[in-house]
Amino acid sequence: MSKISAAITAVGKYVPDFVLTNKELEKMVDTNDEWITSRTGIKERRILKEEGKGTSFMAIKAAEDLIKKRGIDPKEIDLVIVGTATPDLQVAATAAYVASEIGATNAFGYDLEAACSSFLYGMSTASSYIESGRYKKILLIGADKMSSIIDYTDRTTCIIFGDGAGAALFEPNQEGLGFQDEYLRSDGIGRNFLKIDAGGSQLPASEETIKNKQHYVFQDGKTVFKFAVSNMADVAAKIMKRNNLEEKDVNWLVPHQANKRIIDATANRMNVDSSKVMINIEKYGNTTSATLPLLLADYEKKLKKGDNLVFAAFGGGFTWGAIYLKWAYNS
Ligand code: UT7
Repeated sequence: MSKISAAITAVGKYVPDFVLTNKELEKMVDTNDEWITSRTGIKERRILKEEGKGTSFMAIKAAEDLIKKRGIDPKEIDLVIVGTATPDLQVAATAAYVASEIGATNAFGYDLEAACSSFLYGMSTASSYIESGRYKKILLIGADKMSSIIDYTDRTTCIIFGDGAGAALFEPNQEGLGFQDEYLRSDGIGRNFLKIDAGGSQLPASEETIKNKQHYVFQDGKTVFKFAVSNMADVAAKIMKRNNLEEKDVNWLVPHQANKRIIDATANRMNVDSSKVMINIEKYGNTTSATLPLLLADYEKKLKKGDNLVFAAFGGGFTWGAIYLKWAYNS
Protein backbone atom coordinates (compact mmCIF):
# COMPACT_ATOMS: atom_id res chain seq x y z
CA MET A 1 0.00 0.00 0.00
CA SER A 2 1.32 3.47 -0.88
CA LYS A 3 2.16 5.91 1.87
CA ILE A 4 -0.67 8.12 3.18
CA SER A 5 -0.09 11.83 2.78
CA ALA A 6 -2.30 14.65 4.07
CA ALA A 7 -4.02 16.70 1.40
CA ILE A 8 -6.17 19.79 1.57
CA THR A 9 -9.43 18.74 -0.09
CA ALA A 10 -11.60 21.84 0.44
CA VAL A 11 -11.37 25.42 1.67
CA GLY A 12 -13.85 28.00 2.97
CA LYS A 13 -13.84 31.58 4.19
CA TYR A 14 -15.72 34.34 5.94
CA VAL A 15 -14.99 38.03 6.34
CA PRO A 16 -17.34 40.51 8.04
CA ASP A 17 -19.25 42.96 5.84
CA PHE A 18 -18.02 46.13 7.53
CA VAL A 19 -15.10 47.70 5.62
CA LEU A 20 -12.69 50.00 7.47
CA THR A 21 -10.84 52.00 4.81
CA ASN A 22 -7.60 53.97 5.09
CA LYS A 23 -9.67 57.11 4.49
CA GLU A 24 -11.82 56.26 7.50
CA LEU A 25 -8.68 55.68 9.63
CA GLU A 26 -7.47 59.16 8.67
CA LYS A 27 -10.40 60.49 10.72
CA MET A 28 -9.53 58.33 13.73
CA VAL A 29 -5.73 58.72 14.07
CA ASP A 30 -2.91 60.85 12.67
CA THR A 31 -2.25 58.85 9.51
CA ASN A 32 -2.94 58.94 5.79
CA ASP A 33 -3.77 56.62 2.93
CA GLU A 34 -0.43 57.24 1.20
CA TRP A 35 1.61 56.27 4.30
CA ILE A 36 -0.41 53.13 4.98
CA THR A 37 -0.40 51.99 1.35
CA SER A 38 3.30 52.58 0.72
CA ARG A 39 4.47 51.14 4.08
CA THR A 40 2.16 48.12 4.28
CA GLY A 41 0.20 47.58 1.04
CA ILE A 42 -3.09 47.73 2.95
CA LYS A 43 -6.08 49.69 1.60
CA GLU A 44 -8.88 48.39 3.78
CA ARG A 45 -9.73 45.72 6.34
CA ARG A 46 -12.90 44.03 7.61
CA ILE A 47 -14.24 44.52 11.13
CA LEU A 48 -16.73 42.34 13.00
CA LYS A 49 -18.90 45.08 14.47
CA GLU A 50 -21.84 43.25 15.98
CA GLU A 51 -21.68 43.20 19.75
CA GLY A 52 -21.46 39.84 21.46
CA LYS A 53 -20.01 38.07 18.43
CA GLY A 54 -16.52 36.63 18.87
CA THR A 55 -14.02 34.71 16.79
CA SER A 56 -16.25 31.61 16.79
CA PHE A 57 -18.88 33.48 14.76
CA MET A 58 -16.46 33.87 11.86
CA ALA A 59 -14.91 30.41 12.31
CA ILE A 60 -18.36 28.80 12.11
CA LYS A 61 -19.21 30.75 8.94
CA ALA A 62 -15.93 29.72 7.28
CA ALA A 63 -16.47 26.08 8.29
CA GLU A 64 -20.04 26.13 6.97
CA ASP A 65 -18.83 27.58 3.66
CA LEU A 66 -16.33 24.70 3.37
CA ILE A 67 -18.82 22.00 4.36
CA LYS A 68 -21.33 23.24 1.80
CA LYS A 69 -18.73 23.36 -0.98
CA ARG A 70 -17.27 19.91 -0.19
CA GLY A 71 -20.70 18.41 0.39
CA ILE A 72 -19.72 16.40 3.45
CA ASP A 73 -21.75 15.48 6.51
CA PRO A 74 -20.21 17.34 9.49
CA LYS A 75 -20.58 14.14 11.49
CA GLU A 76 -17.70 12.70 9.40
CA ILE A 77 -15.26 15.25 10.84
CA ASP A 78 -12.90 13.73 13.43
CA LEU A 79 -11.18 16.82 14.75
CA VAL A 80 -11.65 20.59 14.64
CA ILE A 81 -8.59 22.76 15.31
CA VAL A 82 -9.01 26.52 15.58
CA GLY A 83 -5.80 28.51 15.21
CA THR A 84 -6.41 31.81 16.95
CA ALA A 85 -4.86 34.51 19.09
CA THR A 86 -8.32 35.83 20.01
CA PRO A 87 -10.38 32.93 21.41
CA ASP A 88 -13.97 33.68 22.44
CA LEU A 89 -13.13 32.95 26.08
CA GLN A 90 -9.93 32.62 28.09
CA VAL A 91 -10.42 29.02 29.14
CA ALA A 92 -13.10 27.19 27.11
CA ALA A 93 -11.69 26.07 23.74
CA THR A 94 -13.28 27.98 20.87
CA ALA A 95 -12.86 24.89 18.66
CA ALA A 96 -15.08 22.77 20.92
CA TYR A 97 -17.89 25.31 20.52
CA VAL A 98 -17.33 25.60 16.76
CA ALA A 99 -17.46 21.80 16.37
CA SER A 100 -20.78 21.60 18.20
CA GLU A 101 -22.31 24.54 16.33
CA ILE A 102 -21.47 23.13 12.88
CA GLY A 103 -22.85 19.71 13.82
CA ALA A 104 -19.47 17.95 14.02
CA THR A 105 -20.81 15.90 16.89
CA ASN A 106 -18.31 13.06 16.45
CA ALA A 107 -15.31 15.38 16.58
CA PHE A 108 -13.14 16.69 19.38
CA GLY A 109 -11.78 20.20 19.19
CA TYR A 110 -9.02 22.35 20.57
CA ASP A 111 -7.33 25.69 19.90
CA LEU A 112 -3.77 26.25 18.74
CA GLU A 113 -2.10 29.57 19.54
CA ALA A 114 1.07 30.65 17.81
CA ALA A 115 0.04 34.20 16.84
CA CYS A 116 0.36 34.73 13.08
CA SER A 117 1.88 31.25 12.64
CA SER A 118 -1.13 29.46 14.18
CA PHE A 119 -2.50 28.21 10.86
CA LEU A 120 0.94 27.20 9.57
CA TYR A 121 1.69 25.18 12.72
CA GLY A 122 -1.85 23.79 12.55
CA MET A 123 -1.10 22.49 9.05
CA SER A 124 1.75 20.50 10.56
CA THR A 125 -0.49 19.14 13.34
CA ALA A 126 -3.38 18.24 11.04
CA SER A 127 -1.06 16.59 8.51
CA SER A 128 0.69 14.51 11.16
CA TYR A 129 -2.62 13.14 12.47
CA ILE A 130 -3.72 12.23 8.93
CA GLU A 131 -0.36 10.63 8.05
CA SER A 132 -0.56 8.56 11.25
CA GLY A 133 -3.77 7.00 9.94
CA ARG A 134 -5.58 7.82 13.18
CA TYR A 135 -8.05 10.36 11.72
CA LYS A 136 -9.59 10.79 8.28
CA LYS A 137 -11.08 14.29 8.27
CA ILE A 138 -9.55 17.22 10.11
CA LEU A 139 -11.00 20.70 9.86
CA LEU A 140 -8.32 23.34 10.43
CA ILE A 141 -9.64 26.88 10.87
CA GLY A 142 -7.63 30.09 11.20
CA ALA A 143 -9.77 32.84 12.72
CA ASP A 144 -9.10 36.09 14.51
CA LYS A 145 -11.12 39.03 15.70
CA MET A 146 -8.13 41.35 15.92
CA SER A 147 -10.41 44.36 16.43
CA SER A 148 -11.12 43.01 19.94
CA ILE A 149 -7.48 43.55 21.02
CA ILE A 150 -6.51 46.64 19.03
CA ASP A 151 -6.30 50.16 20.41
CA TYR A 152 -7.95 52.35 17.76
CA THR A 153 -6.07 55.39 19.07
CA ASP A 154 -2.67 53.74 18.36
CA ARG A 155 -1.74 54.47 14.76
CA THR A 156 1.15 52.02 14.80
CA THR A 157 -1.15 48.99 15.17
CA CYS A 158 -4.71 49.95 14.23
CA ILE A 159 -3.86 50.45 10.57
CA ILE A 160 -2.49 46.92 10.20
CA PHE A 161 -5.00 44.44 11.55
CA GLY A 162 -8.39 43.15 10.42
CA ASP A 163 -10.90 40.40 11.23
CA GLY A 164 -11.61 37.24 9.28
CA ALA A 165 -11.61 33.44 9.14
CA GLY A 166 -10.58 30.71 6.72
CA ALA A 167 -10.86 26.94 6.85
CA ALA A 168 -9.19 23.95 5.20
CA LEU A 169 -10.12 20.26 5.30
CA PHE A 170 -7.28 17.72 5.56
CA GLU A 171 -7.87 14.18 4.27
CA PRO A 172 -5.68 11.16 3.38
CA ASN A 173 -4.22 11.04 -0.13
CA GLN A 174 -2.49 8.10 -1.76
CA GLU A 175 -1.24 9.85 -4.90
CA GLY A 176 1.63 11.56 -3.12
CA LEU A 177 -0.18 14.91 -3.08
CA GLY A 178 -0.66 17.21 -0.09
CA PHE A 179 1.85 17.88 2.70
CA GLN A 180 5.49 17.29 1.66
CA ASP A 181 7.83 19.01 4.13
CA GLU A 182 8.04 21.61 6.89
CA TYR A 183 10.63 23.82 8.51
CA LEU A 184 9.17 25.36 11.68
CA ARG A 185 11.00 27.61 14.12
CA SER A 186 10.44 29.77 17.22
CA ASP A 187 12.46 32.14 19.40
CA GLY A 188 11.17 33.38 22.75
CA ILE A 189 13.09 36.62 22.48
CA GLY A 190 10.20 37.79 20.31
CA ARG A 191 7.74 38.15 23.18
CA ASN A 192 9.33 41.48 24.02
CA PHE A 193 8.43 42.99 20.67
CA LEU A 194 4.92 41.78 19.87
CA LYS A 195 2.58 41.02 22.74
CA ILE A 196 -0.38 41.80 24.96
CA ASP A 197 1.09 42.50 28.38
CA ALA A 198 -1.89 41.87 30.64
CA GLY A 199 -4.78 39.47 31.04
CA GLY A 200 -2.58 36.36 31.12
CA SER A 201 -1.22 34.47 34.13
CA GLN A 202 1.83 36.70 34.44
CA LEU A 203 -0.10 39.94 34.78
CA PRO A 204 -3.80 39.32 35.43
CA ALA A 205 -6.36 42.00 34.65
CA SER A 206 -6.66 44.84 37.16
CA GLU A 207 -7.83 48.42 37.23
CA GLU A 208 -4.20 49.38 36.71
CA THR A 209 -3.73 47.24 33.60
CA ILE A 210 -6.89 48.65 32.05
CA LYS A 211 -5.84 52.22 32.85
CA ASN A 212 -2.43 51.53 31.26
CA LYS A 213 -4.01 50.04 28.12
CA GLN A 214 -2.11 46.80 28.67
CA HIS A 215 -4.85 44.62 27.18
CA TYR A 216 -4.14 45.86 23.67
CA VAL A 217 -1.55 44.62 21.19
CA PHE A 218 1.84 46.24 21.58
CA GLN A 219 4.23 45.98 18.65
CA ASP A 220 7.73 47.29 18.15
CA GLY A 221 7.10 47.36 14.41
CA LYS A 222 10.63 48.08 13.25
CA THR A 223 12.16 45.18 15.19
CA VAL A 224 9.42 42.75 14.19
CA PHE A 225 9.81 43.86 10.59
CA LYS A 226 13.55 43.14 10.65
CA PHE A 227 13.08 39.64 12.11
CA ALA A 228 10.16 38.90 9.78
CA VAL A 229 11.95 39.92 6.60
CA SER A 230 15.04 37.84 7.21
CA ASN A 231 13.40 34.80 8.83
CA MET A 232 10.45 34.34 6.49
CA ALA A 233 12.71 34.58 3.46
CA ASP A 234 15.24 32.28 5.11
CA VAL A 235 12.84 29.40 5.81
CA ALA A 236 11.21 29.70 2.39
CA ALA A 237 14.62 29.47 0.70
CA LYS A 238 15.63 26.55 2.98
CA ILE A 239 12.54 24.49 2.21
CA MET A 240 13.07 25.01 -1.52
CA LYS A 241 16.68 23.88 -1.30
CA ARG A 242 15.90 20.86 0.85
CA ASN A 243 13.28 19.68 -1.65
CA ASN A 244 15.33 20.51 -4.75
CA LEU A 245 12.71 23.04 -5.80
CA GLU A 246 13.91 25.58 -8.29
CA GLU A 247 12.09 28.81 -8.93
CA LYS A 248 10.36 27.31 -11.96
CA ASP A 249 9.03 24.42 -9.83
CA VAL A 250 7.18 26.70 -7.39
CA ASN A 251 3.68 27.45 -8.67
CA TRP A 252 2.60 29.55 -5.71
CA LEU A 253 4.08 31.31 -2.72
CA VAL A 254 1.43 31.52 0.03
CA PRO A 255 2.85 34.13 2.42
CA HIS A 256 1.44 35.47 5.68
CA GLN A 257 -0.08 38.87 4.96
CA ALA A 258 1.56 41.21 7.48
CA ASN A 259 3.23 43.70 5.21
CA LYS A 260 3.59 43.80 1.42
CA ARG A 261 7.28 44.67 1.82
CA ILE A 262 7.91 41.47 3.83
CA ILE A 263 6.07 39.45 1.18
CA ASP A 264 8.14 41.03 -1.62
CA ALA A 265 11.38 40.34 0.24
CA THR A 266 10.43 36.66 0.64
CA ALA A 267 9.49 36.35 -3.04
CA ASN A 268 12.76 38.04 -4.08
CA ARG A 269 14.85 35.70 -1.96
CA MET A 270 13.07 32.72 -3.56
CA ASN A 271 13.47 34.35 -6.96
CA VAL A 272 9.74 33.76 -7.51
CA ASP A 273 7.91 36.07 -9.90
CA SER A 274 5.22 38.30 -8.38
CA SER A 275 2.59 36.61 -10.58
CA LYS A 276 3.09 33.48 -8.46
CA VAL A 277 2.63 35.25 -5.12
CA MET A 278 -0.78 35.05 -3.48
CA ILE A 279 -1.78 38.40 -2.08
CA ASN A 280 -4.93 39.92 -0.59
CA ILE A 281 -3.44 42.18 2.08
CA GLU A 282 -4.86 45.23 0.28
CA LYS A 283 -8.43 44.23 1.15
CA TYR A 284 -8.13 42.42 4.50
CA GLY A 285 -4.96 43.73 6.20
CA ASN A 286 -3.31 41.36 8.66
CA THR A 287 -5.93 38.89 9.92
CA THR A 288 -3.30 36.97 11.97
CA SER A 289 -4.34 33.26 11.95
CA ALA A 290 -6.68 33.74 9.00
CA THR A 291 -4.31 35.08 6.34
CA LEU A 292 -3.17 31.74 4.86
CA PRO A 293 -6.59 30.06 4.54
CA LEU A 294 -8.14 33.30 3.25
CA LEU A 295 -5.52 33.28 0.49
CA LEU A 296 -6.33 29.66 -0.38
CA ALA A 297 -10.04 30.47 -0.58
CA ASP A 298 -9.45 33.57 -2.72
CA TYR A 299 -7.08 31.75 -5.12
CA GLU A 300 -8.81 28.35 -5.09
CA LYS A 301 -10.09 28.63 -8.66
CA LYS A 302 -6.58 29.27 -10.01
CA LEU A 303 -5.03 26.28 -8.26
CA LYS A 304 -4.43 23.06 -10.20
CA LYS A 305 -3.93 19.51 -9.00
CA GLY A 306 -0.20 18.91 -8.57
CA ASP A 307 0.73 22.58 -8.11
CA ASN A 308 3.66 23.14 -5.75
CA LEU A 309 2.77 25.59 -2.96
CA VAL A 310 5.26 27.06 -0.49
CA PHE A 311 3.62 28.53 2.62
CA ALA A 312 5.60 30.94 4.81
CA ALA A 313 4.59 32.79 7.95
CA PHE A 314 6.07 34.88 10.74
CA GLY A 315 4.39 35.99 13.95
CA GLY A 316 4.48 36.86 17.63
CA GLY A 317 6.50 34.67 19.95
CA PHE A 318 8.47 34.78 17.67
CA THR A 319 7.07 31.89 15.65
CA TRP A 320 7.76 31.24 11.99
CA GLY A 321 8.27 28.64 9.35
CA ALA A 322 7.60 27.30 5.88
CA ILE A 323 5.63 24.34 4.54
CA TYR A 324 5.82 22.70 1.12
CA LEU A 325 2.52 21.20 -0.07
CA LYS A 326 1.25 19.79 -3.38
CA TRP A 327 -2.27 20.93 -4.22
CA ALA A 328 -4.65 17.98 -4.57
CA TYR A 329 -7.66 19.07 -6.65
CA ASN A 330 -9.00 21.16 -9.49
CA SER A 331 -12.05 23.21 -8.60
O1 UT7 B 1 1.99 39.63 11.62
C1 UT7 B 1 2.88 39.56 12.69
C2 UT7 B 1 4.16 40.18 12.38
N1 UT7 B 1 4.04 41.60 12.22
C3 UT7 B 1 4.71 42.18 11.25
O2 UT7 B 1 5.33 41.52 10.47
C4 UT7 B 1 4.71 43.67 11.19
C5 UT7 B 1 6.11 44.16 10.96
N2 UT7 B 1 6.26 45.61 10.98
C6 UT7 B 1 5.77 46.40 10.01
O3 UT7 B 1 5.06 45.95 9.13
C7 UT7 B 1 6.18 47.85 10.00
O4 UT7 B 1 7.22 48.04 10.91
C8 UT7 B 1 5.03 48.84 10.30
C9 UT7 B 1 4.05 48.86 9.16
C10 UT7 B 1 4.34 48.46 11.60
C11 UT7 B 1 5.61 50.25 10.45
O5 UT7 B 1 6.34 50.59 9.27
P1 UT7 B 1 7.82 51.17 9.36
O6 UT7 B 1 8.24 51.47 7.98
O7 UT7 B 1 8.64 50.19 10.13
O8 UT7 B 1 7.60 52.50 10.13
P2 UT7 B 1 8.29 52.98 11.48
O9 UT7 B 1 7.71 52.28 12.65
O10 UT7 B 1 9.78 52.97 11.32
O11 UT7 B 1 7.83 54.49 11.51
C12 UT7 B 1 8.28 55.45 10.55
C13 UT7 B 1 7.62 56.78 10.84
C14 UT7 B 1 7.72 57.19 12.31
O12 UT7 B 1 7.87 58.59 12.35
P3 UT7 B 1 9.31 59.24 12.59
O13 UT7 B 1 9.79 58.71 13.89
O14 UT7 B 1 10.16 58.80 11.42
O15 UT7 B 1 9.02 60.71 12.59
C15 UT7 B 1 6.38 56.82 12.87
O16 UT7 B 1 6.02 57.60 13.97
O17 UT7 B 1 6.23 56.71 10.55
C16 UT7 B 1 5.47 57.08 11.70
N3 UT7 B 1 4.24 56.30 11.72
C17 UT7 B 1 3.15 56.64 11.02
N4 UT7 B 1 2.88 57.69 10.21
C18 UT7 B 1 1.65 57.73 9.64
C19 UT7 B 1 4.01 55.15 12.39
N5 UT7 B 1 2.75 54.74 12.14
C20 UT7 B 1 2.20 55.64 11.30
C21 UT7 B 1 0.94 55.75 10.69
N6 UT7 B 1 0.72 56.80 9.86
N7 UT7 B 1 -0.02 54.83 10.86
